[in-house]
Amino acid sequence: MQPDLILRGAALPNGREGVDILVADGIIQAVGPGIEAKGRREIDASGCLVAPPFVDCHFHMDATLSLGLPRRNVSGTLLEGIALWGELKETLTVEAVVGRALAYCDMAVAQGILAIRSHVDVCDDRLVGVDALLEVKRRVAPYLDLQLVAFPQDGLYRSAGARANLVRALDRGVEVVGGIPHFERTMEDGRRSVVDLCEIAAERGLRVDLHCDETDDPLSRHVETLAAETHRLGLSGRVAGSHLTSMHGMDDYYVSKLIPLIAESGVAAISNPLINLMIQGRHDGYPRRRGLTRVQELQAAGVPVAFGHDCVMDPWYSLGSGDMLEVAHMAVHAAQLTSREAMRAAFAAVTSVPAGILGLDGYGLEPGCHADLVLLDAEDPIEAIRLKATRLVVVRRGRIVAETPAAVSRLHLPDRPPSVSARRSAPESSAH
Ligand code: FE2
Repeated sequence: MQPDLILRGAALPNGREGVDILVADGIIQAVGPGIEAKGRREIDASGCLVAPPFVDCHFHMDATLSLGLPRRNVSGTLLEGIALWGELKETLTVEAVVGRALAYCDMAVAQGILAIRSHVDVCDDRLVGVDALLEVKRRVAPYLDLQLVAFPQDGLYRSAGARANLVRALDRGVEVVGGIPHFERTMEDGRRSVVDLCEIAAERGLRVDLHCDETDDPLSRHVETLAAETHRLGLSGRVAGSHLTSMHGMDDYYVSKLIPLIAESGVAAISNPLINLMIQGRHDGYPRRRGLTRVQELQAAGVPVAFGHDCVMDPWYSLGSGDMLEVAHMAVHAAQLTSREAMRAAFAAVTSVPAGILGLDGYGLEPGCHADLVLLDAEDPIEAIRLKATRLVVVRRGRIVAETPAAVSRLHLPDRPPSVSARRSAPESSAH
């Protein structure tokens, strides 16, 4: 049988070069040099990187592209963002949320994101966001995996009805349990919420992803409870702590005890560098904290660390474009991930690591995996981050779902070449 697609001469994230990838029936059938077959479609990938798709493991799709509605966040703080979202929430309609979310998914797919974990606010008795994003999940399923988290934005206990709404959302098909312990009224309420939410997840066999300690308060230690509950309830590998920014300001001695406990529990860490840099440290004078969690120390202890986009053009963040390489690029700077090994890990933090956190089946570049691929105009993951490389071709289940031409500038300079790209060495032949 003739294969549907063959990519020729690709470089892979693991450093292999000159590799052919043969695709049939939506599955990667073979990976290796010089595959003898003729595909219905062949793509010359020589000099370019082929990666599994980008995975955004922390996003808010119910709020995306709502910038300016009903007004803008003047202070730029988390708390004004939450207040502004509260005003917008009352006016939301399913149609409007679906429309904006689908528009964002178009943008994301073009940038090679084929899986997103989105939190959806359940502090709304109408559950408009839940109904809207369940509809979006159904509609984008052919080209994008959308995993939803029931997120009590205004507090599981602090907001009347939030706990009941969270359970209603899970009953409707939302598949991950969310929370926001640092936003409850007291530390004790926050601790209780973590226990409660982990028990709900354990009872239902679900995953957990809490906005956890997204604060500059170094005494916000709910991740400690999250790790302990994960350990107690046997949830290892199914729990993520998002943000964990308080760890940035914590006492080093306490952290020396905390990180091994996180590693032992099997809790993953999700850092959101664009948002953390924008929102944390707002009460500091100078020096002002960067506000990211301790990325390299967590990685060194064996904790899976992923980077999320979190927001695009919403009450908390007015920028963003669904570009996970921009996210990784920011993480490299903010967490000083400057070694080659650390930059490769940053690429993994927007691809394979979050795929593991979401529990995606068939993710990867081995034979038998789904034929979900991104052809990048870069020689390796480090150049991909440096250039925020063009996603030349995006493939979902063996079918091309997005294409973007390489960025090449025509020059009009005396005694200089007629064109230039920012690549270190231009490929001998361009893709397509
Ligand atoms: Fe978030």
